[in-house]
Amino acid sequence: MRMVDLIELKKNNKELDEKQIHFIIDGYVHERIPDYQISALLMAICFNGLTSKETALLTKEMEESGDIIDLSPISGIKVDKHSTGGVGDKTSLVLGPIVAACGAKVAKMSGRGLGHTGGTLDKLESIPGLSINKTKTEFIQQVNDVGLAIIGQSASLVPADKKLYALRDVTATVSCIPLIASSIMSKKLASGADTILLDVKYGKGAFMQTKEDAIKLAQTMIDIGKQCHKDTRATISNMNQPLGKAIGNTLEVIEAIETLQGHGPDDLEQLCLQAGSTMLVQAHLYEHEKEAYDALKEVIKNGKGLIKFKEMVKAQGGDVSYIENPDKFERARVIIELPSLKTGYVKSLEARTLGIVTMKLGGGRMTKDEDIDHRVGLILHKKIGDYVIEGESLLQVHASKSVSQELIDELYQSYEIVEELIEKPVLIEEILK
Ligand code: URA
Repeated sequence: MRMVDLIELKKNNKELDEKQIHFIIDGYVHERIPDYQISALLMAICFNGLTSKETALLTKEMEESGDIIDLSPISGIKVDKHSTGGVGDKTSLVLGPIVAACGAKVAKMSGRGLGHTGGTLDKLESIPGLSINKTKTEFIQQVNDVGLAIIGQSASLVPADKKLYALRDVTATVSCIPLIASSIMSKKLASGADTILLDVKYGKGAFMQTKEDAIKLAQTMIDIGKQCHKDTRATISNMNQPLGKAIGNTLEVIEAIETLQGHGPDDLEQLCLQAGSTMLVQAHLYEHEKEAYDALKEVIKNGKGLIKFKEMVKAQGGDVSYIENPDKFERARVIIELPSLKTGYVKSLEARTLGIVTMKLGGGRMTKDEDIDHRVGLILHKKIGDYVIEGESLLQVHASKSVSQELIDELYQSYEIVEELIEKPVLIEEILK
């Protein structure tokens, strides 16, 4: 088989078979096929797409390029969730504990933040002492004992994706639905859970700009899940504005604690309750989502979700006293308010810009090896649909040093305030399965 012939086939929109896809992925991972030929193939895929069969075969090949985690020593149905990424998305920190408090086994491997979106691992590492590194045996032990573990992906999980993603990043081939779907699903399948819930976000702060594209991506991933016999479902949620009020690692952990205490922001709580209900049904713990929803509400009310979070933090070496008393978290040195220059209703809020400003404050990274400052970030006092009076604070900036005029201008530009009444946006648009 010659790679050049396979590129030619895809260029002419022909379907590749299992042997050909194996030849490509195996050859690339073992450095028999050079970057330039894979780049040409990726671009042909961007233009011509992949059939559903090709997408599933590609995913399977990628999954099998490295370690596959065997979670069978954990009793019960193991549930996992994945968000396609957004700004202020601390869902896993709330969803994991409440779902586990209702009896599900949550075995989750997460990633770090890159660019304008944050990552669960960075948020967790704001908790002094907490480690996201566990051996497979320790990971399995923790899920068996506590019901919940959130750790970093092992370096040997899906090496094909590491190589392909780095190449896609520099060849303008990231934004292609079958490539995104196979990248995400290969990692989820290799992580070994029995069920997968995908939170596919769309809007200005997300990978997918439109709801239609988010649905297409979700359906492609559900289709892969079905072909691999995994119960895979997806929520389609709006990321035109950040989720919750806090953006930035420590600030988001504190907001997650508040949500587990029952006084977090409505949108975050609703997303966690709805996504959690689906996960509990997937785990066969409840037949109907309504009963699961009520059970999740109850574990927030009676504090069992917060207890589960503390158990996880303790099992991962974190100092639980910070969860019991969030005032202990070290805060940024400079905290300033940004007064509104107008009276009116917030019409739009640029999630992406707010994510980028947080990154520029030191809370995120441009390249994957940069250090970050966990303390910095933003607290939004006003979100879409809120009324604001001139002089009232729009948001709070947490910074390590004085904030430049350029950043302040960017923050002002991210808010659009108008005179007419604006409805609050719907967060979860659909649940697909
Ligand atoms: N997230 C991933 O893991 N892969 C993609 O291709 C895009 C987003």
